[in-house]
Amino acid sequence: MSTRNTVQRTPYAVRICHWLMVICFFLVAMSGLSWFFPSLNWLNNLLGGPQLARILHPFLGVAIFVFLAFMCIRLARYNLPEASDKAWFANVGSVMKGEHNDAIDTGKYNAGQKVLFWSIMGLISVLLLSGVIIWRPYFAPLFGIPIIRIGLLLHALAGVLLMLLIIGHIYLAFWVKGTISSMSTGRVSRAWARSHHPRWYRSIQQDAP
Ligand code: HEM
Repeated sequence: MSTRNTVQRTPYAVRICHWLMVICFFLVAMSGLSWFFPSLNWLNNLLGGPQLARILHPFLGVAIFVFLAFMCIRLARYNLPEASDKAWFANVGSVMKGEHNDAIDTGKYNAGQKVLFWSIMGLISVLLLSGVIIWRPYFAPLFGIPIIRIGLLLHALAGVLLMLLIIGHIYLAFWVKGTISSMSTGRVSRAWARSHHPRWYRSIQQDAP
C-alpha cells in the first residue's frame, strides 16, 4: 500500500516494545500454564526445561512489566476516558456487527480498547506485586506464609484473566480488517482510520502541514 493512502498510527519505539513484550508474554504464559496442569508440563521446555523455566519466568515477567510501563507512558493520554466513550458503550452491538455509526465519533482508541488497556496495566501490576511476594529465593523469605498464600492466589487469578483478555485482544487485532498493520508497519489505511477512528483521523489531518 502506498504511503499516500496510509497514515502513521504507532511509532517505531512502541511497536518494538509491543513485540518484545509479546515474545516474553508468550514464554511466561506457557511456563505459567505448565505449572497449572500436569498434562501441560512439557510447555516448560520452551524455556529450557523445568529448572530453567522456574528461574527465567520471574525475570521475563519483570521485563514484560517494564515494556508495558513504557507503553503506558507513551499511550496513556490516548486512553483516558472521555464523554464520547458513552456512545461507544451504548452502541456496542452495532460496533460488534461492524456497522458504521455516526453517533460514535471515536478518537485514537475506542472505549473497548481503553478498558482493555487499563485492565492490562492493572493486571500486570498485580502480577508484579504478587510475583515479588512469591519469588523464591529472593523476596519470599521477607513475607509470612499467609501473605505468600494470598500472593499465590492473586498471581494465578491475574495470570489467567490476563491470558483470557489477550486471547480476545489477538482475535480483535485480526478480526477487524486492516488493524494488524498498526503494529507491524505502524501505518493504517486512510479508509480504516476514517471508518474506525474518525475523530483521530480528523485531528491528524489538521496537524498535517
Ligand atoms: C500475537 C499477539 C498480539 C497481537 C497480534 C497484537 C496486536 C495489536 C495491535 C494490532 C495493536 C494496535 C491496535 C490499534 O492501533 O488500534 C495492539 C495494541 C496493544 N497491544 Fe497488542 N497484540 C498482541 C499481544 C499483546 C499482548 C500479549 C499484550 C499485553 C500483555 C498486548 C498489549 C497491547 C497494548 C497495551 C496495546 C495498546 C492499546 C491501546 O493503547 O489502547 N498485546 N496490539
